Amino acid sequence: EYKRPFGVRIDENGVIPGAKKLVRRLSDMRGYFYDEKAYEELLKEDPVVYEVYAVEQEEKDGDLNFATTILYPGKVGKEFFFTKGHFHAKADRAEIYYALKGKGGMLLQTPEGEVEWVPMEPGTVVYVPPYWAHRTVNTGDEPFIFLAIYPADAGHDYGSIKEKGFAKLVVEENGEVKLIDNPRWK
Ligand code: 6PG
Ligand code: NI
Repeated sequence: EYKRPFGVRIDENGVIPGAKKLVRRLSDMRGYFYDEKAYEELLKEDPVVYEVYAVEQEEKDGDLNFATTILYPGKVGKEFFFTKGHFHAKADRAEIYYALKGKGGMLLQTPEGEVEWVPMEPGTVVYVPPYWAHRTVNTGDEPFIFLAIYPADAGHDYGSIKEKGFAKLVVEENGEVKLIDNPRWK
C-alpha cells in the first residue's frame, strides 16, 4: 500500500498544524551553557528556549522527516540561546535547513572538534554534511525560525555534545556577535 502524499502550511509563527510538538525549557538544558551562575539566575524564570514541530515517519531508510524549530531570543550570561545540538545516531545521515524568520546561525562540528559557523537569515539554506554535529543559535532579538529536512532513520545522538559541548561559544561582546574558544572544551 502506498503512503499518501500531503501538503502542510507552516504558519507565520513556525507552527506546523498537526505536527508533534516538543518544548525545551532552560531547565531541560542544565550543563549546556558556560556561565553556570547566570544559568541558575535565569532558571528562576525557566524560559522556553525552543520548540520543535516535527512530522516524522517510521525509521526506514529512503523516507524523510521534517520539522520546524522556533528558537527564542535570549542569552545566558553573554552566550546566545541555542539548541542542544547533536550528531545523528546514524552519523552519516545529512540534513538540510532552510531559514524562515529571524536571525542566527549554525555551529557545526566534526567528531575531532573542527568547527564551522554558518550565518542564517530568512532564505538561507544550510547543507549539513554527514558526520557533522549541528546546533543553531539565535543571535537576534526575535524568534529565529527554520525548517529542517532529514532522513527518517537519522535519529539523534545527544551524548557527546552534552558532555563536551562545542569547541566554540557564540557570544555577544560590545554589541557584536563573536565566536570565542570554549574554555571547557578538551
Ligand atoms: C533534526 C534536526 C532539528 C533539531 C531541532 C532541535 O535532526 O531533527 O537537526 O529538527 O532536532 O532543531 O535541536 P536539538 O535536536 O539539537 O535539540
Ligand atoms: Ni539533525
